[in-house]
Amino acid sequence: MTSVPTLGQIPPGVVTLADHEAHARTVLDDNAWAYFSGGAADEITLRANREAWDALLLHPRVLRPMAGGHTRVRLLGRTLAHPVLLAPAAFQRMAHPDGELATAYAAAMQGAGLVLSTQASVPLETVAQAIRGEPGRGPLWFQLYMQHDRGFTRELAQRAEQAGYEALVLTVDASASGARDRERRAGFRLPDGVSAVNLANLPPAPTPALQPGQSALFDGLLATAPTWADVEWLQAQTRLPVLLKGVLHEDDARQAAALRVGGLIVSNHGGRTLDTVPATARVLPRIVAAVAGACPVLVDGGIRRGTDVLKAMALGAQAVLVGRPYVFGLANAGALGVAHVLRLLRDELEIAMALSGCATLEQATPSLLFRQS
Ligand SMILES: Cc1cc2nc3c(=O)[nH]c(=O)nc-3n(C[C@H](O)[C@H](O)[C@H](O)COP(=O)(O)O)c2cc1C
Repeated sequence: MTSVPTLGQIPPGVVTLADHEAHARTVLDDNAWAYFSGGAADEITLRANREAWDALLLHPRVLRPMAGGHTRVRLLGRTLAHPVLLAPAAFQRMAHPDGELATAYAAAMQGAGLVLSTQASVPLETVAQAIRGEPGRGPLWFQLYMQHDRGFTRELAQRAEQAGYEALVLTVDASASGARDRERRAGFRLPDGVSAVNLANLPPAPTPALQPGQSALFDGLLATAPTWADVEWLQAQTRLPVLLKGVLHEDDARQAAALRVGGLIVSNHGGRTLDTVPATARVLPRIVAAVAGACPVLVDGGIRRGTDVLKAMALGAQAVLVGRPYVFGLANAGALGVAHVLRLLRDELEIAMALSGCATLEQATPSLLFRQS
């Protein structure tokens, strides 16, 4: 791995996030493609995420004053240049040798927030160090998978805090791996030299002696999966805000708000965990209503256009995250590819705001969405 990312070139004709995806198919081998692009089982949720944003229509206003307009938002006490963050995505060195380091530089250059995965293939300290001094960089958060060893989990959270991460994002929708049929068909395996380096010292999980009738899943893996008590435990271990990622039910959202979490990310893991759950665009308004302003609500899943970002804001999100598109940008052109994906989204968002009469994102309210009367 190089210490400063190499600069690639944007392939000719790549002008949208969909173009990046199509081009990435020609760059990535079948193994990596199955991992990065696939969803769980029949990929019903994967498709539903996209379809739900497409099904929402904007209802623009005209002749409004637009001077002084901007895409800035406030989030967890900071002002961000725009509301797009990069979602945690594991093993990015499988897309490009610079991996998460390139992603971090690109995020910093574009003022985008970055959520580094627990399963990053670059040490979390290296990523934080690389962008620490970058003026105008967005927030840097660490995504945490609760490990079977709580002592190790606490140390991981402390490492992130010491390295300068500003929030912990506890992912709660992946206590077991989804049925990744596409990966199994491709015979997916991690290439040599790519691994979850931040978990290198994790002690092996104990293998409990199962009694007859006990399940290897429920009494094995899930015996140490996080519960609500662990959310409180984690909050007690850190001074950082703890956000929950993967909340889809309004009752869970209320429970989380009662625990004073730092925020909620409405997510179905990009359709990679439980298939046939609803699209995030459909669930978002319920979660926003349930928390009633108690904490910020973010959303990811299928966001591919500036208009999708604007629709999410109109539904009450404070910010959005994108996953696959920037990994494809990374595969296509390293740091420059990730920066390009972010720039495209920012430009499209500005155009969408300008043409729908929103000078600021505060003006993106539910009335911006067309309702069939
Ligand atoms: C290749 C890949 C790896 C991912 N790894 C993680 C991860 O390590 N932790 C996590 O919380 N979410 C992970 N996710 C889910 C993303 O954070 C995000 O929820 C999802 O990609 C958003 O959907 P989109 O890809 O349609 O934008 C991963 C997603 C992809 C595509």
